[in-house]
Amino acid sequence: MNILGISCYYHDAAAVLLRDGVLVAAGEEERFSRIKHDYGYPRKAIQFCLDSAGVSGQDLDYVVFFEKPFRKLDRILMSVLQTYPQSWKVFRESMISWMIDKLWVATTLQSELGVSKDKILFSEHHLSHAASAFYPSPFDEAAIMTMDGVGEWATSSLAVGEGNKIRFLEFFEMLRDRRLGHVKLGSQLFDRTCRDSQHSDDASSRRMGDGFKNSIL
Ligand SMILES: [Fe+2]
Repeated sequence: MNILGISCYYHDAAAVLLRDGVLVAAGEEERFSRIKHDYGYPRKAIQFCLDSAGVSGQDLDYVVFFEKPFRKLDRILMSVLQTYPQSWKVFRESMISWMIDKLWVATTLQSELGVSKDKILFSEHHLSHAASAFYPSPFDEAAIMTMDGVGEWATSSLAVGEGNKIRFLEFFEMLRDRRLGHVKLGSQLFDRTCRDSQHSDDASSRRMGDGFKNSIL
């Protein structure tokens, strides 16, 4: 099974190709275009991945985009409404990008790669981050924490990775509850880690690991 993963239209566009769960090739568009932090459609990086695997777009079983554009647009519209009229200028500029590129991702992928619509999937932003950390790791089970500027709505998340599954325990979202997800997550982890470390005789690094583990399991 050949799966092409794509990230673009925000910063540092990139592509990766997996065959039967094994990484075959990956590349950032800036390495080919020579444009620093190139965020456009990663045409050259995709071609590099396809060539490395010796396949064409028609050989792909799935093409996966790194986030859900419509859910992200929902968040942007909400944040603009909450901060209007100061947000008007930013809104106007970002909408140009959305109308030109982001809302047409599926159409672009179909025409560029020759894949049918049912082969195009959209991952959640923080699931993409969690998967990129857990699946290449040497662990069969692991606690996973993601912290980001923002994804669709979430700024941070806690999850458990088991085998080929990732189970989310909690998302910390911006705006909806008017609290900063990073601050909330950080304080929870700190509190629980300190509490656990008071009852352990192990080395400090071990205590930190247990604290994190206990905080999410
Ligand atoms: Fe991110």
